[in-house]
Amino acid sequence: MSTAVLEQAARAAADNAYAPYSKFPVGAAVQTADGSVFTGCNVENASFGLTNCAERTAVFNAVAAGHREITCVAIYTPTAKTTAPCGACRQVLREFGQDLQVISTCDGPGRSETTLRELLPDSFGPESLSKPNHAE
Ligand code: THU
Repeated sequence: MSTAVLEQAARAAADNAYAPYSKFPVGAAVQTADGSVFTGCNVENASFGLTNCAERTAVFNAVAAGHREITCVAIYTPTAKTTAPCGACRQVLREFGQDLQVISTCDGPGRSETTLRELLPDSFGPESLSKPNHAE
């Protein structure tokens, strides 16, 4: 399936980025199992540590709308090179899909396409908390 629509949604989402401190706007869009698309942007805060990345905003938008199965995420930054999702966002994405496709686009010719499994191997997830994993 073409990811052009998702990539365009990520690009448009960057327009709403609130990034007065870093001046590094990011847009993200996630696609869910039924084909729905949810977008997000980074939202910074004067208390810097409270910043929310674009990817997490998009995931939280999807989950808040009742969609928990994420199949693909597109990330856009208005930069010459692509931006990979940060470690925190990888972990949050992993909660809702291990096999999801991760696409990064930018204003340059570069484009990267990988999977979350590749970006976060041997990961911790919901099943890590299941009963058989607990020592008695
Ligand atoms: N940022 C994202 O939104 N996603 C990433 O994957 C990397 C970083 C944001 C956080 C912050 O607002 C700005 O980019 C600079 O770190």
